Amino acid sequence: MSTLVVVGSQWGDEGKGKITDLLSEEVDIVVRYQGGCNAGHTVVKGDQQFIFHLIPSGILHPGKKCLIGNGVVIDPESLLREIEDLRKKGIEIDGNLFIDSKAHVVLPYHKTLDEIKEEKRGKNKLGTTKRGIGPAYIDKIARTGIRIADLIDKKTLSEKLKINLEEKNEIFEKLYSIKTSKQEQKDLIKRYQEYGQLLKKYVIDVSLLVNQAIEEDKKILFEGAQGTLLDIDHGTFPYVTSSNPVAGGACIGAGVGPTKIDKVLGITKAYTTRVGSGPFPTEIEGKLGKYLRQKGGEFGATTGRPRRCGWFDAVVASYAVRINGMDSMVLTKIDVLSDLDKIKICTSYQCNGKLIKEFPVNLKTFKNCNPVYEEVEGWKSDISQITRYEDLPPKLKAYISRIEELVRTKVVIVSVGPKRSQTIIREKIFK
Ligand code: IMP
Repeated sequence: MSTLVVVGSQWGDEGKGKITDLLSEEVDIVVRYQGGCNAGHTVVKGDQQFIFHLIPSGILHPGKKCLIGNGVVIDPESLLREIEDLRKKGIEIDGNLFIDSKAHVVLPYHKTLDEIKEEKRGKNKLGTTKRGIGPAYIDKIARTGIRIADLIDKKTLSEKLKINLEEKNEIFEKLYSIKTSKQEQKDLIKRYQEYGQLLKKYVIDVSLLVNQAIEEDKKILFEGAQGTLLDIDHGTFPYVTSSNPVAGGACIGAGVGPTKIDKVLGITKAYTTRVGSGPFPTEIEGKLGKYLRQKGGEFGATTGRPRRCGWFDAVVASYAVRINGMDSMVLTKIDVLSDLDKIKICTSYQCNGKLIKEFPVNLKTFKNCNPVYEEVEGWKSDISQITRYEDLPPKLKAYISRIEELVRTKVVIVSVGPKRSQTIIREKIFK
């Protein structure tokens, strides 16, 4: 096995950063294939915590190639900031980081539009991260977007940006009474030309490099951002992000054919969280919800927003298994549940008088779904230092077995804390 897609099984924040970092030890290349700096992948190395927004979570491993694929939308300011921060911490970037020339660029007007549109939605707001992700993908689909190849070519950038600024400023002026002076426009073009020159050395054809590496039997990990339920096509539309976090997105967002993907690993939190708006049947309100948020440190890695917390939802996880063609799962943050007397698992939904086990595609139906729970006994002991599966408390093993049974997928890794050492490997991923 040489190619693996790591994908989020829920609404993001499942711990993909930690697992990607861990598996990076065994791979040659890590590739981000969608999303942008709306992602916040947390990795703990020794006493240091790193949060990656655009740079793949493999960068802490010297000599591993970290690629940002064509499917990602890149905010140059954010990327340059991330590069600088990592450099200051002694992380080698040059020679390890590469970005695709076809990736689209997030520009200041995308961020402004994201903010304005979100404000205008009032009580129907989506809860976006306001990083300009949606508007950047809109321009990509509208074929007016600026790609990295344009960004690094001063003349092309100036020509394209002038046209775009004219169009965007008309929208800003007419719809939102925001005026931008000619000087401000000139300054913006100059600034982005400078960013382009700073990023030029990283620009390659990611698809070519990845496919050559596959030919050479190198090991490659495709790192998904966000999660299945935030997918633009398969998620809880419209409360989703504007890209395809699902495993299929790796093919499009990195330029690899589906026949080249060997395995899909789903990163699944032992409970469920969601940031932003949208239905969430197993959400826990009140004291217990607050407790999980505090214990699990459930605050957005990008925006700091408190995450909504809920019980494990087997309907959601089974759906993720199907949509991604998941072979196996990693169960993360199980230590967060260690002090609870009773733990609930949602096995199906009660909806409009019917019992349903399949995730409903219609949002209206999903909104009306009430979770049907099964309750299991808590294990009530500290498991954060356990390193062998056999040593886990029997009640915890029973919880894992029940999840495996419900979602019909094996849990091959159990994460019992944020550190690399707090990981129980039941089955090796790369054999
Ligand atoms: P956007 O991606 O900023 O447009 O936000 C759309 C939705 O996706 C919002 O509900 C965000 O909270 C959510 N979202 C975007 N990125 C992440 C992430 O990395 N983790 C969890 N939720 C995210």
